[in-house]
Amino acid sequence: MENDEPLLRRRDFILGGVAIGSVLAAGAILPLGLVLRDDEDLAEGISGVQVAYFPRTKVGTIGQASTTDPLFFDYPLTGQSNVLVDVGQRAIGGIGQERSVVAFSNICTHMGCPITDYNADERVLGPCVCHFTTFDLAKDGQVVLGQATQNLPRVLLELDGDNIIATGVFRLISGYANNLGGVNVEIAAANGAGTSASSGATDD
Ligand code: FES
Repeated sequence: MENDEPLLRRRDFILGGVAIGSVLAAGAILPLGLVLRDDEDLAEGISGVQVAYFPRTKVGTIGQASTTDPLFFDYPLTGQSNVLVDVGQRAIGGIGQERSVVAFSNICTHMGCPITDYNADERVLGPCVCHFTTFDLAKDGQVVLGQATQNLPRVLLELDGDNIIATGVFRLISGYANNLGGVNVEIAAANGAGTSASSGATDD
């Protein structure tokens, strides 16, 4: 519709502007592949920016998304652990019929301890075994309680039939200066076997 197009363009512009502003302020990499992925030209004119292009990787099926039993998978690199759950209500970035299936890094944003306990009643991951932070997976991984101050990185998901495809990671994974760890890294594959691939990071 004629009225929709300017709104979409304005939204894209705002998102892009926020991302670029963050990068320029930080003077660092841009782990926000979701913003620039659809308009790669946007990055080309920005000096000193590295854009991470994430691999598209099957991480499970919609049938494996449980409200009680979290599914753990590595992405984008082997050893970068994440948790996938159905939080039972519409969630930011959620996929599936109810937009309730989400995935987050389960590496604590405080000091990097892995978190494996999931409380389905409260929809929270944690408490972290190190310093007891809990994260609300229905609210974009925000901190509920504890020492951490930053949301968990959210894995960007798409549905391809019944397959859940990871397409990127929003926010920096704890302990990494670059979610993709540089070039020629081992990309976590759906079948558990690493596939050598380039991050495609560029330094314009
Ligand atoms: S490492 Fe998780 S709360 Fe400190």
